[in-house]
Amino acid sequence: MYYDLNPGKRILMGPGPSDVHPRVLKAMSTPLVGHLDPDFLEIMNETRAMLKEVFQTKNEMTIALSGTGSAGMEACLVNLLEPQDKAIVCVNGLFAERMVDIVKRCEAEPIIVEGEWGDIIEPEKVRESLQNNPNVKLLAIVHAETSTGVRQPLEDISRMVHDAEALFVVDAVTSLAGIPVKTDEWRIDAIYSGTQKCLSCPPGLSPVSFSDRALQAVDCRTRPVQSWYLDIGMLQSYWGKERFYHHTAPINMVYALRESLRLVLEEGLEKRFKRHFLHSKALVAGLEAMGLKMVAPAEYRLPELNAVYIPDEIDDVTVRKALLNEYGIEIGGGLGKFKGKAWRIGLMGYSCSKDNVMLLLAAMENILQGEGFKVREHGILAAQEVYEKE
Ligand SMILES: Cc1ncc(COP(=O)(O)O)c(C=O)c1O
Repeated sequence: MYYDLNPGKRILMGPGPSDVHPRVLKAMSTPLVGHLDPDFLEIMNETRAMLKEVFQTKNEMTIALSGTGSAGMEACLVNLLEPQDKAIVCVNGLFAERMVDIVKRCEAEPIIVEGEWGDIIEPEKVRESLQNNPNVKLLAIVHAETSTGVRQPLEDISRMVHDAEALFVVDAVTSLAGIPVKTDEWRIDAIYSGTQKCLSCPPGLSPVSFSDRALQAVDCRTRPVQSWYLDIGMLQSYWGKERFYHHTAPINMVYALRESLRLVLEEGLEKRFKRHFLHSKALVAGLEAMGLKMVAPAEYRLPELNAVYIPDEIDDVTVRKALLNEYGIEIGGGLGKFKGKAWRIGLMGYSCSKDNVMLLLAAMENILQGEGFKVREHGILAAQEVYEKE
């Protein structure tokens, strides 16, 4: 006998998914229409138009792929790379490591520019690599590294990549709708995101945008894209005027994304970015007042993903379990090199609010004290001070 679904009540403050706005949940239960129904085609058009605003681009080829953020990553790389192509991948965290894996599976040659986990990729290293490797097809980089909480500045690197006549590929899975993502201004040729982070939509779609330059590169391929499902040309015919059947769009997910984009645009991009910045500032003030240390330097810290070192004497899992069981709060553990060493606290989209910040700080303080950690000052007082100054 299986019972009604009844998962625990949670506040999602991990690295994603984030809490979903009730309006998005409601939109998901809108009755289905066929995936080629004229009404659905209009919904797809509206979704594309709003995605373009959020990506800050005029790129016509801006769509939502069926699949999570990894589908976007794979789509960008498999469409642009052919065997023997060279691709520079900037690696300072787990997600860039995955890009290297995909480049290899394309039978292309990855050239790695390495950075410390928890720090940015220095543009000078990129310049050197581009000089040492003429004829690279593309450079791929993560804008918001969810494994470390680092925001990678992109402007200088974009200039270098374009000077070298390569394509600029950016992972914006955790940045889109949380911090500025200026696709056109930063001359990004292929960019992808995910729905479950700062868009506060369930996981399931991957918004992507390809520049005309990137589409020309796809047109010039000497062999078909090895992935049929992620072939951007075929997807273009489905999302574009032809409406050529490619696959059955996950209709309710498109409803959900459309509603979450409406929420983003109703709030306004600038206001949304400021909200993320403010609550992160309050959270960090609280954590630091308690005596904890942030992973990323303040200048490059992501407001939507706050990575904080776990004090030496404290057990990672004990604290996360207590947060979940006693307070219903989910935060993330460390990934890769940061496993057991850092917590990842998400303040993404709908989860990014004062009540969540205060509850988490109070809960952490209680739990840490119970585990023997000497809390220096009350976290919530430090956070409150930040809010009062606003
Ligand atoms: C920076 C980054 N890239 C790619 C991914 C993969 O996305 P997904 O898990 O939605 O497939 C994630 C997921 O957390 C991510 O944070």
